[in-house]
Amino acid sequence: MGNVIITGSNRGIGRAVLEKFAVNKWNIWAHTRVKNTEFEAYVSRLASENHIWIKPVYFQLGDEEQIKKGVKEIFFDKEEIHALINNAGIGHYETFQRTSMQKAKELFDINFFAPYLISQLVLRKMILQKGGAIVNMSSIAAIDVNEGDSVYGAAKAALNLWTKDLAAEVGRFGIRVNSVAPGPVDTELLKDNHLKKLTPSSLTEKSAMGRIADVREVANIVYFLSTNEASYINGEVIRVDGGRK
Ligand SMILES: NC(=O)c1ccc[n+]([C@@H]2O[C@H](COP(=O)([O-])OP(=O)(O)OC[C@H]3O[C@@H](n4cnc5c(N)ncnc54)[C@H](OP(=O)(O)O)[C@@H]3O)[C@@H](O)[C@H]2O)c1
Repeated sequence: MGNVIITGSNRGIGRAVLEKFAVNKWNIWAHTRVKNTEFEAYVSRLASENHIWIKPVYFQLGDEEQIKKGVKEIFFDKEEIHALINNAGIGHYETFQRTSMQKAKELFDINFFAPYLISQLVLRKMILQKGGAIVNMSSIAAIDVNEGDSVYGAAKAALNLWTKDLAAEVGRFGIRVNSVAPGPVDTELLKDNHLKKLTPSSLTEKSAMGRIADVREVANIVYFLSTNEASYINGEVIRVDGGRK
């Protein structure tokens, strides 16, 4: 069906995105932070079951040189890149007063500047190809007011505005750029941040459906936005939060 780069594909939402593309017969560059033999065995099994190739790619999102080297490695394969999923990210749930400058910069580095740089590099190829789709993983924290989400939300809000501006800039090359903004999703990120300070019920009280999301419910939308089924959706931020009450 196509070739896709997925960042942060070893666990959480990224792993569900990886599985969704694999069963739909896409070839995948599966990014993770560090080499991981369990993950390599898993993707090799997934690739042979689905008759596709999956190549693990390793780099730290906080390190520009590693990002450049990782993308160069992908370019060496001389394959077209039909989609880029900027999924990897870090969470943070803390008041503004208790969030250090160092933490704020880390949140922007990983959640905004890393997808920014990866996209800038990958777009060179997409522009030559005259086509492609970029999906950025945002959050409803970028849109709704939630005490404790201020810096995380600000980094994701930057991602949303950049998504819209970039879509306006590269649409003429047949490239679409969208973001997906999930509400709470059942992953380690949620357990390591919000659930250390909040009760599970406080996370669902604003949800019309009264529950948090399964990773596959987010992966389905990411996949849809990457395909031609979404050929006229561009510059959008799509909420995946079960509705708000
Ligand atoms: N879970 C939620 O409730 C929720 C809601 C809205 C939006 N999101 C967004 O969804 C995305 C995925 O989150 P998740 O919940 O699936 O989180 P997760 O389970 O914690 O997974 C995060 C992924 O990002 C990778 N990553 C983090 N920091 C990295 C770094 N410095 N360099 C390279 N890779 C790094 C992780 O790699 P390692 O395994 O090596 O750490 C992992 O693959 C994030 O952008 C997050 O902000 C999540």
